[in-house]
Amino acid sequence: MSTIIKAIALTKTYQSGSTSHQALRGVDVEIERGEFVAIMGPSGCGKSTLLHLLGGIDKATTGQVHFEAIDMAGLSETQLTQLRRRRIGFVFQKGLLLPMLTARENVCVPLKLDGVAAAECAKRADAALEAVGMAQRANHRPGEMSGGEAQRVAIARAIVTDPAVILADEPTGALDSVNSLRIIELFRSLVRDHNQTLILVTHDPEVAKAADRMIRMRDGTVVETVLFSHADRLTKTAAS
Ligand SMILES: Nc1ncnc2c1ncn2[C@@H]1O[C@H](COP(=O)(O)OP(=O)(O)OP(=O)(O)O)[C@@H](O)[C@H]1O
Ligand SMILES: [Mg+2]
Repeated sequence: MSTIIKAIALTKTYQSGSTSHQALRGVDVEIERGEFVAIMGPSGCGKSTLLHLLGGIDKATTGQVHFEAIDMAGLSETQLTQLRRRRIGFVFQKGLLLPMLTARENVCVPLKLDGVAAAECAKRADAALEAVGMAQRANHRPGEMSGGEAQRVAIARAIVTDPAVILADEPTGALDSVNSLRIIELFRSLVRDHNQTLILVTHDPEVAKAADRMIRMRDGTVVETVLFSHADRLTKTAAS
């Protein structure tokens, strides 16, 4: 396996007015291509912040993120946008579907931005909606969907471009156990059959167990890494 994302000594300080908050305090992570990694930890420990930095959505205060050996800080805004659009699929913690667009149109957005023809967009969007169990709701707008349904459409939008890396922030948070299992199965098959890389934030230990590795964070640092073998064997490493 080869490294797809490498983060070195990441720190992130948020400044709001005169107060500042250090959300990340020196995080190193290395993610292999084709790996499924779960990130866990208490609310506010920096999970979403880390995911945003790994996906080039936000910039670190100090430290580096290398994506396929390219230092993201060295890319122009245009190059970074293109990298995010073509190589990374992001499922945000807070939905972010466009309210005026139908499910199919929402899923088409990243393809359209990349110049894919309308008929091809619709075909691929329908396949992605089918994969998340939302094919029958393709013409519905987000306001007409439940939270879990909207979340599944957001997942379809993240996978429709066939990205090298999927970054998913609590993608099963609003789902019942049946749909949660379905999404986890879908993610596992993307990793297994398409060699895609998945980094997923979750509060659910059952979801984390589907991963190859779990990274536990606390107070802006990584405090534990657990490797899961899928013969239900658990190996603890690198506790610090
Ligand atoms: N834009 C921001 N401005 C100021 N502080 C922020 C901002 N975003 C996050 N924070 C703070 O940084 C810390 C880490 O936030 P983050 O969203 O990464 O946590 P999290 O681990 O994802 O939590 P949760 O499980 O609740 O989603 C929190 O204390 C949060 O209040
Ligand atoms: Mg979060």
